[in-house]
Amino acid sequence: MMLDPVPPPTPAPVEPVGLHVNGCASDLCLPKGATLLEALRNSLGLTASRFGCGLEQCGACMVLVDDQPRHACQLLAADQTGRIIRTPESLAEDALGRLLIESFIAHQAAQCGYCLGGILITAYAWLRGLKGEPSRAEIARTLDPHLCRCGAHPRILAAVAATARAWLDRPR
Ligand code: FES
Ligand code: FES
Repeated sequence: MMLDPVPPPTPAPVEPVGLHVNGCASDLCLPKGATLLEALRNSLGLTASRFGCGLEQCGACMVLVDDQPRHACQLLAADQTGRIIRTPESLAEDALGRLLIESFIAHQAAQCGYCLGGILITAYAWLRGLKGEPSRAEIARTLDPHLCRCGAHPRILAAVAATARAWLDRPR
């Protein structure tokens, strides 16, 4: 008896998407419906933004979109054409970003480090608009969208507080 031949798998639909990330423009071919987080990690190799929950609850995927912290797991990549995107990888390129990273290292704020890319993005965006020395409660409120599964919150708060002091005291 002849068996019916197995039909070849249907290729997943793809779409062209232009993204501007960390100062570089890229023309990508992405699976239809890909999130910005998938595009960053799987197509551009920018893996400092992490997938934690996919539900806007942990903040591990946070990136800057037109200077605002946004959950990359919740954004369609195709909707981000024309926007300026920055990932944690870009933070070492300016003085505030470097100060923040150095402070996290000095305070040993990382345990596994999974949450830190997203936290650095939110802290960086907030510190840029800082007018005066923040209270611990203000810093905690700012970082509220973030979950650190290792429970390193006290060291993370201390690192952001130290960065705030150093940033306000910087020579201008
Ligand atoms: S992975 Fe986006 S909020 Fe958790
Ligand atoms: S350092 Fe491990 S999740 Fe935050």
